[in-house]
Amino acid sequence: EEWKERGAAVGVRQEIDSSGKPVLRSVKKGVRDFSFGRTLGEGSYSTVLAATDRQTLKEYAVKVLDKRHIIKEKKIKYVNIEKNTLNRLTEHPGIVRLYYTFQDEKSLYYVLDVASNGELLGVLKKIGTFDVECTRFYGAQILDAIDYMHSRGVIHRDLKPENVLLDDQMHVKITDFGTAKLLKDPYAVPKQGLPDMDKEDDDNRAASFVGTAEYVSPELLTDKNACKASDLWAFGCIIYQLLSGRPPFKAANEYLTFQKIVGLDYEFPPGFPPAARDLVERLLVHDPQRRLSMEHIKNHEFFDGVKWGRSLWRQKAPRLM
Ligand code: ADE
Repeated sequence: EEWKERGAAVGVRQEIDSSGKPVLRSVKKGVRDFSFGRTLGEGSYSTVLAATDRQTLKEYAVKVLDKRHIIKEKKIKYVNIEKNTLNRLTEHPGIVRLYYTFQDEKSLYYVLDVASNGELLGVLKKIGTFDVECTRFYGAQILDAIDYMHSRGVIHRDLKPENVLLDDQMHVKITDFGTAKLLKDPYAVPKQGLPDMDKEDDDNRAASFVGTAEYVSPELLTDKNACKASDLWAFGCIIYQLLSGRPPFKAANEYLTFQKIVGLDYEFPPGFPPAARDLVERLLVHDPQRRLSMEHIKNHEFFDGVKWGRSLWRQKAPRLM
């Protein structure tokens, strides 16, 4: 019952087959419409598989979630958040797009954009550090995608280089919205009926969720409350990591990492570019209200020369070295 697809067009359509005979075909895509290939990634509740639409031959990444496991671990709400969030974020090249959802007895399926070059973290680990030009390009694409999701009322809450994927053009695709926070839809028409349980500004999920230790903002640790600026803290951590090869706050365990975050205990390695240092110092600020805003980041000297908006996504990615 929990998995019922609200608002989805479910039904059959009459088509004429090759012999001219009318046949009934399901309108909705299902498991049988795809051929599945290799495993692209594995999470605690899901596996991502490469898949091809049998009719169009278009390639996708299909996230397969195990229903029994999700029910047992009480994650139903998060699964719905991911779907509802992705359904709000359909018009940006920097965000993995959700095309279809369906299910069978055992699993839920999310059909997503495939990002064939995998995680930004993997690329970073392979080459060690990014130069200023690559950091500016990837930083700008990540920021443009964050700006779009914030404009649509979505806070990601777990931004990190593992959740930044790279497509065949080496352009950014942000993924993993299972722990996102949906703000009240700024475009929503008020409707009658029961409140939508996923749109919290006030419920207990906000108080129980903490993202990945190294990128967690101090306000999440102290007030348990994420805001748009929490994603910009994580963005500051990512910029630092691209240039230095490691996140600014890293310790032997989560507790010690949290202590470093709360103590703003980090240092810049020698040779860290001065403009980038200034940007990171203005992002890794405890008070979210005093952290650099989206517009100020875009206008910061580190991003001098960047053309924001659509042209950023028509640009050729710089060569990594
Ligand atoms: N791993 C997880 N999600 C992926 C995606 N959409 N494309 C490629 N690899 C992935």
